[in-house]
Amino acid sequence: MKIGFEGRRVIVTGAAHGFGRAIALAFGALGAKVHAFDVLADGLAETVAQSGGTCTSAVVDVGNRDAVQAAVAPLGPVDILVNNAGGVCGQTGRPIEEISAADWQTIFDVNLSGAFFMTQAVAPGMKARKQGRVINISSGAGKTISLTGIQAYAAAKAGQISLTRQLAHELGPWGITVNCIAPGFVLSNPTTERQYAAMGKDGQDRLLQNIALRRLGTPADIANAVLFFASDYAAWITGEALSVDGGK
Ligand SMILES: NC(=O)c1ccc[n+]([C@@H]2O[C@H](COP(=O)([O-])OP(=O)(O)OC[C@H]3O[C@@H](n4cnc5c(N)ncnc54)[C@H](O)[C@@H]3O)[C@@H](O)[C@H]2O)c1
Repeated sequence: MKIGFEGRRVIVTGAAHGFGRAIALAFGALGAKVHAFDVLADGLAETVAQSGGTCTSAVVDVGNRDAVQAAVAPLGPVDILVNNAGGVCGQTGRPIEEISAADWQTIFDVNLSGAFFMTQAVAPGMKARKQGRVINISSGAGKTISLTGIQAYAAAKAGQISLTRQLAHELGPWGITVNCIAPGFVLSNPTTERQYAAMGKDGQDRLLQNIALRRLGTPADIANAVLFFASDYAAWITGEALSVDGGK
């Protein structure tokens, strides 16, 4: 099996760090022209520097519909969109009584509204060309419960899975596939490193014992699944939510 993306135009959101950077670099290495979006200019600059010229970048808040429209419009045709921007926005698990409206909304803005606004921005061009791939990065938290205990995160990630299914049906007649990846816990950034450290030795052992393959994943494990959904080998797969978690 040989996967290539020569001449394909890709947007990866949340590409300043972690999975997003790994995904952007993986597409670039396989011939794609990648546009990396994030709110963090420094991290984006590092992604671009590591890409060897395959990647350009823009500072975009994906939760802001007007900003998304303004950033996507000048790019021209987009073949593949990866909605990876997301996370817990610096929050930790707290009892429901302590969650403010802003705490709740912030997590929805990036994880769910961001995926919606970005797809809304690229869909007209994909429909006109009768082709396109959208890949949403959800989480195991959207299929079961969140290890962090953050209610909005679990709900927004479940929302991404439902949005994936709905948009697959809406956009399928134009040859556009919409799929979703639900990663397990991966050490991808300082936040996840801290979460892992906070589990202590016993918690870490329990986590590993609950993974069939007995190891944590890597950003490359997630990027590989994205490349598959974006490739010709996944041409008749849409509306799926694939767990990439070492087996549960
Ligand atoms: N790491 C894990 O264990 C894990 C597990 C399951 C799912 N995920 C999901 O994978 C995705 C990537 O996670 P990661 O671990 O690489 O995290 P990360 O924090 O390293 O990367 C997320 C990126 O999204 C960017 N971002 C945040 N808000 C944004 C906004 N409004 N607009 C644009 N960009 C924004 C951040 O600046 C960051 O660069 C997230 O959606 C996360 O929820 C991660």
